[in-house]
Amino acid sequence: MSVEKKLIKDKIPKHIAIIMDGNGRWAEKNGKERTFGHENGVESVRSVVEGAGEIGVQYLTLYAFSTENWGRPKLEVDALMGLLVQSISNETVELMKKNVRLQVIGDVKSLPENVQCKLNWCIDTLKNNTGLTLVLALSYSSRWELTDAVRRIAEDVQQEKIKTDDIDKDLIDSYLNTAGMPDPELLIRTSGENRISNFLLWQIAYSELYFTPVLWPDFRKEDLFKAIYDFQHRERRFGKTSEQLMS
Ligand code: IPE
Ligand code: IPE
Ligand code: MG
Repeated sequence: MSVEKKLIKDKIPKHIAIIMDGNGRWAEKNGKERTFGHENGVESVRSVVEGAGEIGVQYLTLYAFSTENWGRPKLEVDALMGLLVQSISNETVELMKKNVRLQVIGDVKSLPENVQCKLNWCIDTLKNNTGLTLVLALSYSSRWELTDAVRRIAEDVQQEKIKTDDIDKDLIDSYLNTAGMPDPELLIRTSGENRISNFLLWQIAYSELYFTPVLWPDFRKEDLFKAIYDFQHRERRFGKTSEQLMS
């Protein structure tokens, strides 16, 4: 039986986040430039978006470019930005057919003008869709997001829009880029690295972590289903005891 058929239908995570890693190593393995790995990663994105939509995931957040990735060689950064614009152009029709919406988290204003333009156009084109919400993390890092949120909270306290006493978990949630989204129940990282690399630190407080050695350009929806299968067989205790969960 395929893994997809073994999935428990009413236990599909509402929100899955993925750290798409290993493009460079994949290219190296194939004797090619790093950019070749990024290009091939697009097919993986296509496949997981399709798979997530098929099984009824509501939010799929993909870490595509981190704040720290700006420090890579200019040639690679430029290639990644170019690939982003090209992929949005090529994929929007398909995303429309799949009833997918698009959202972006991260410091969007730091992206090149043409990237921002294409993103806004794509978000607007897909805005009335009702299926999966694809969330791209671009120029994103959790410490950037939290710093930005703290600054805006402080401003709103200063301008007496809120009181210090109003600051609680829900208020902080509402100042994050992910406001309105459920926290990810499952976080996947490919390429065998066992770290978080500044991704969604606040939101993954109780996420299940799944690390796989598969390099991102080799990752397909079947690998996503395998991760979800694994997730469905874990006991999420949220600080309680196993006995408490049974009763
Ligand atoms: C992930 O693959 C893509 C981005 C971070 C943009 P990498 O480019 O990090 O690939 P490795 O980790 O060097 O193999
Ligand atoms: C994390 O991958 C960022 C993205 C996948 C966009 P990196 O390859 O940049 O992470 P580190 O440097 O290995 O921690
Ligand atoms: Mg990497």
